[in-house]
Amino acid sequence: MNNTLSPIIIALDFSKPQQALEFAQQLGTHRCRVKVGKELFTRSGANLVETLVEQGFEVFLDLKFHDIPNTVAHACAAAAELGVWMIDVHAFGGRDMLLAAREAIEKFSPRPLLIAVSILTSLNENDLFALGLHGTLQDNVLRLARLTHASGLDGLVCSPHEIAPIRAALGQELQLVTPGIRPNLSVQDDQKRTMTPTQAVALGANYLVIGRPITQAADPLQALIDIEASLISA
Ligand code: C5P
Repeated sequence: MNNTLSPIIIALDFSKPQQALEFAQQLGTHRCRVKVGKELFTRSGANLVETLVEQGFEVFLDLKFHDIPNTVAHACAAAAELGVWMIDVHAFGGRDMLLAAREAIEKFSPRPLLIAVSILTSLNENDLFALGLHGTLQDNVLRLARLTHASGLDGLVCSPHEIAPIRAALGQELQLVTPGIRPNLSVQDDQKRTMTPTQAVALGANYLVIGRPITQAADPLQALIDIEASLISA
């Protein structure tokens, strides 16, 4: 793993593989890790992921697997074969699914980091209530964080707002990956639980997933450099 990289993971939320590759190359392997999500993967398949890996990018393959344990285990092994740096599953898949995912990637060296998604950052408490989930957002995230930790995963995707309670409950063991990052909090898009990069890192986020604030910027490289500078000066 390249420890000189900043904590920023760029969400390559593009529809065309060529667009994604050119965008990643414009930023450079030395500057950031990249995330391939559902749209790009569904359109471009494993070839694009392999190309990014061959070019030297550390790739977070964000397919948020959520299925029966056997299916998720095989999907995780298939993802690990692509040589990616990080993969994820939904904590809502339950304990057996999390354990099966963990076991499936054990034999890979280096093995990808395996993290679980807690509650999507596009959801708020009204959404949880509509889903039949009782308790506060924080209660629900903490319950899933404990389950993820007890199942031996490396980390958790959560909103920056849940970092402090997770650290208080579970210490430093889980790597916390936070989307919902907005350098300018007045631009939320569809995210409902947002924070600035410096606030999230100060609270203890290990990685920041950033999409539109960089991909839609007039000058994406400058937008990335500005965020890096804000993190260093903080
Ligand atoms: O454009 P934006 O910065 O909102 O992109 C956030 C990225 O993080 C998207 O690719 C989204 O799929 C992903 N993500 C998220 N919330 C989660 C997990 C992943 O927004 N809980």
